[in-house]
Amino acid sequence: MAAETWHDIKNTSMNFDIDKIRADFPILKEIIRGKNLCYLDNAATTQKPQVVIDTLTKYYSGQNANIHRGVHYLSELATKEFEDSRVKIKKFINASSEKEIIFTRGTTESINLIANIFNKGILKDGDEIIISGMEHHSNIIPWQLIQDQKKIKLRVIPIDDNGEIIFEEFLKLINEKTKLISVVYVSNSLGTINPVEKIIETAHQQNIPVLLDAAQAIQHIAIDVQKLDCDFLAFSGHKIYGPTGIGVLYGKKKLLEALPPFQGGGDMISKVTFEKTTFNDLPYKFEAGTSNIADAIGLGTAIDYVSSVGIEQIAKHENEILDYATQSLSQIKELKIIGKAKYKSSVISFVFDNIHPHDVGTFLDFEGIAIRTGHHCTQPVMDRYNIPATSRASFAIYNTKDEVDVLVKGIKKLIEVFN
Ligand code: ALA
Repeated sequence: MAAETWHDIKNTSMNFDIDKIRADFPILKEIIRGKNLCYLDNAATTQKPQVVIDTLTKYYSGQNANIHRGVHYLSELATKEFEDSRVKIKKFINASSEKEIIFTRGTTESINLIANIFNKGILKDGDEIIISGMEHHSNIIPWQLIQDQKKIKLRVIPIDDNGEIIFEEFLKLINEKTKLISVVYVSNSLGTINPVEKIIETAHQQNIPVLLDAAQAIQHIAIDVQKLDCDFLAFSGHKIYGPTGIGVLYGKKKLLEALPPFQGGGDMISKVTFEKTTFNDLPYKFEAGTSNIADAIGLGTAIDYVSSVGIEQIAKHENEILDYATQSLSQIKELKIIGKAKYKSSVISFVFDNIHPHDVGTFLDFEGIAIRTGHHCTQPVMDRYNIPATSRASFAIYNTKDEVDVLVKGIKKLIEVFN
């Protein structure tokens, strides 16, 4: 069975057809400011294939009901679609049970959930959490919020000029007070792929759990949570061609079972009296209130879509685009690439000496090119490089080398105008 599945994926992969893939995404046909859309802001959010859009329409036009609550036909149908999506996600990341898949609003809520339950169930004054110097704000602030209540310490792994974590410094930060290592898998502002296997192995030698922020990894890298042996993993649906407002927290069953609930409300309970409440089993213990049903189902369709193309083949395609973009942009002498790690994924950040990133973004927008400019919710990374912001192009399944050429042409025009 496994061999057949692999065979299917390989066959599909060999037929990676960029024109067909582009045709699956209706927005790519849009004309923006009189130009063909050149969408290079995929680290912010990815576009949606027609199948995902259709799933949402189908759900709201013929399946909508609340889940886990009714015995009527539509409620059972919606429940089945919702739970099927959980199983698809379980298979996609190779979790050992669907009980380990918690639906959240996104990566941010997943990390906040862990911070909240660690605060309630584990952390005490003097404890330490290790993060890296390239975290998104969503993996910094949830820990700082705990510092308002408890004297916990945030230890930060420094990064070098290339944008790689300094592993020897990481080793020095671990001690008996470390209660969690929470690191980003792929940096959203530098593109660095962190050595998460090595981090997890090191942490586990001292029985320290590891949370991976996989917001920028899930859509680019094949993730097998059992092989990685990470304890928790967070990602967002909208970065992997799914809807906004839906995300996932994966957690090892034993750990999640031992931790207290996050929010209280409907669906997360077993028995409620005014004196005492007992809680539901996993995953529902962490899913209080009516879930984002439609978007969870839409995420399942997005996962099907990615699987039908093959994540390995997507990664191969995106790496070619990233290499081509890196070579092309490196030839522009006025431009400096920020983030030169040996292993990178789909993100290229750059700056100019005399042109502010916001001017870069606005100018390119008039050429139909969508990139992100700013600090990318990683202000400490900007401080590390002593810059206020960068311009960032980020790639996805549907991008082409032609679009990189459009970007390069736009940048050359920009330099001419600003110099
Ligand atoms: N975190 C997202 C980004 O990097 C929004 O753009």
